[in-house]
Amino acid sequence: MKFDTPAGTNPIDQLKVIGKPTDRIDGPLKTTGAAKYAYEWHEEVPNAAYGYIVGSAIAKGRIGSIDLDEAKAASGVLAIVTAKEAGKLGKGKFNTVKLLAGPDIDHYAQAIAVVVAETFEQARAAAAMVRIDYVRAKGSFDLAEGLKTAPITGGMGDDGKPAPKEDRYGDFEGAYAAAPVKLDERYTTPDQSQAMIEPHASIAAWDGDKLTVWNANQMVDWSRADLATTLGIPKDNVRLISPYVGGGFGSKLWIRADVVMAALGAKAAGRPVKIALPRPFLMNNTPHRPATAQRIRIGTDQAGKITAFAHESGTGDVAGGQPETVTAQSKLLYAGENRLLQRRLAHLDLPESNAMRAPGEAQGLMALEIAMDEMAEKLKIDPIEFRIINDTQVDPMKPEKRFSQRQLTECFRIGAEKFGWSQRNASPGQMRDGRWLIGMGTATAFRGHINTPSKARIRLDAKGIVTVESDMTDIGTGSYTIFAQTAAETMGLPLDKVIVKLGDSTFPVSAGSGGQWGANSGTAGVYAACMKLRELVAERLGLNTADAAFVDGKVRSANRSIALGDAAKGGDIVIEDGIEFGDLDKQMHQATFGAHFVEVGVDAYTGVTRVRRMLAVCAAGRILNPKAARSQVIGAMTMGVGGALMEELAVDRRFGFFVNHDLAGYEVPVHADIPHQEVIFLDEVDATTSPMKAKGVGELGLCGVGAAVANAVYNATGVRIRDYPITLDKHLDRLPAIA
Ligand code: MOS
Repeated sequence: MKFDTPAGTNPIDQLKVIGKPTDRIDGPLKTTGAAKYAYEWHEEVPNAAYGYIVGSAIAKGRIGSIDLDEAKAASGVLAIVTAKEAGKLGKGKFNTVKLLAGPDIDHYAQAIAVVVAETFEQARAAAAMVRIDYVRAKGSFDLAEGLKTAPITGGMGDDGKPAPKEDRYGDFEGAYAAAPVKLDERYTTPDQSQAMIEPHASIAAWDGDKLTVWNANQMVDWSRADLATTLGIPKDNVRLISPYVGGGFGSKLWIRADVVMAALGAKAAGRPVKIALPRPFLMNNTPHRPATAQRIRIGTDQAGKITAFAHESGTGDVAGGQPETVTAQSKLLYAGENRLLQRRLAHLDLPESNAMRAPGEAQGLMALEIAMDEMAEKLKIDPIEFRIINDTQVDPMKPEKRFSQRQLTECFRIGAEKFGWSQRNASPGQMRDGRWLIGMGTATAFRGHINTPSKARIRLDAKGIVTVESDMTDIGTGSYTIFAQTAAETMGLPLDKVIVKLGDSTFPVSAGSGGQWGANSGTAGVYAACMKLRELVAERLGLNTADAAFVDGKVRSANRSIALGDAAKGGDIVIEDGIEFGDLDKQMHQATFGAHFVEVGVDAYTGVTRVRRMLAVCAAGRILNPKAARSQVIGAMTMGVGGALMEELAVDRRFGFFVNHDLAGYEVPVHADIPHQEVIFLDEVDATTSPMKAKGVGELGLCGVGAAVANAVYNATGVRIRDYPITLDKHLDRLPAIA
């Protein structure tokens, strides 16, 4: 099904199943431990050996020599593979540096060998016996230092062509110089880790030259292709299975060393091999969200209308990497005729930078939305009003291009009312509750919308059961459930008559889970396939497709009513179809919006910050399953609190690695840190996104949260912190006098 004109009324609009807060259909499997994650296919692969990866102990340089003798002789060892044994390997499209290094080393903890043994303990023990002599070279590990000479670059655009070096519109310098009110501030955000619960994990099994991998993965088809490229085998020879994934946040959009080394180890050992990356290894071996240094300049007239706007950012990456898209939201978020957006990319020899939930916007909004708060204060305008004054329904740089839906102002108005924003004291450091300094903060949430083609296979049997198959993944997001809801709604069935099977490359290629596109694009693919099934059913039953109504497990036409399953009496009906997108997303901007509200208490004595309550109001198209969507948003809000107050990979600038590489040192929020969260979804449908009229919320929920927390802390204390995370040492000596 080609989607190139806005959707009219269609079966999804019945909202009998879609739009209802629905429990996860995979919930019981997960809560009873029956859902199998990548490392757990014991019955299917009963004889798997264990792989343990040896990572580089230097960040930059090369391997002088490797001595495997002692490790090979260790008990239980079946095989050891280094770059020498592996021979020539390719590199996947989505990997910046090689997943098996040697002799050159690109970063600390880059994989250089895998030891395969009968047990995990034997593999680990033998891995410690691999003797490596390194020739260390000088590396660059300091972002601030690197940015002094880093070139301005737009990096690669989504179309694979170089993006413009910078974005300019009007005359920023002139307008900024002339602006009566202005701000020029710098902000930093640190390196962060996705810190998902399930580590990268794989089992690899060869059958001749055919490879099957069970791999914790968000994007089955991308990763199947990249694994084939890396191993130098045809894509058709690779099957990738990923039906349950314990979180990804971008870390599993691509293949990593676990699956490549499991495949190489399995080949060498002549046995299936399983590998899970240990957390302390994972955090330097796999990509992370890169640190940023940002400068924002805003000029306004006296009434608060933005006349000049500049956002510059600097990030770092290994050779071949890309600048983070930190200024993405700044193109579109606020009005203002004279703009400059610029990115710099410093060469760093730290582990590879790559996507983590809302890559670019997450960091960009952490800075921009503090700047907006600061500017509002200069103007003596309420920060919500300042944002509303500068809201726009058109692209500020291309006024002829509109947003398909943009209810940012509505999000703020409703949120302000619900949250009790009028209780906020605009003068910081004035509100107290016992020992707590109380503050409220707000910030805009904004994230673009992306369409991705998506297919599904649908089977109808004589019992009237519909089975959906797609290589879509469910990374904790609820894909199983919204796919089932979509098929149930379209076929006129209750939810329990639909079976959903996901995450297998033998199924049709779906949108996958990334960029918050999975919900809308993935379900649109299911819808398209179901509409095709409806045609076939009508045909088999001798009905006119246009007149046939699919209701309550029946197909009705004129005065006839036939059980849906009757269409499959002569044999199951199996069809495959999907959604392809035209250029509606080029004709207009499709995006998701929201407003975050946070109340914090800062301990007047210790400087410790505690979040007291949070509210997000989101406008993101049709909400397919309000329960699952709420879970996405509260999870994202929690992640945002982590980003604001705790999360930071500490860089060792001498040796080039992240020091706090486990969950003891890299802190993320726990339940006790998050007392009260509320989410409101505006009743929105966007007919331009797909027949589902939906968008996505998984990344929107994170966008802006950090700044809302930062602004609340400022409102509580009167101390402005522009360097995340906002830990107590950054304001303790400047807090208001206690007595
Ligand atoms: Mo997302 S960072 O595209 O999983």
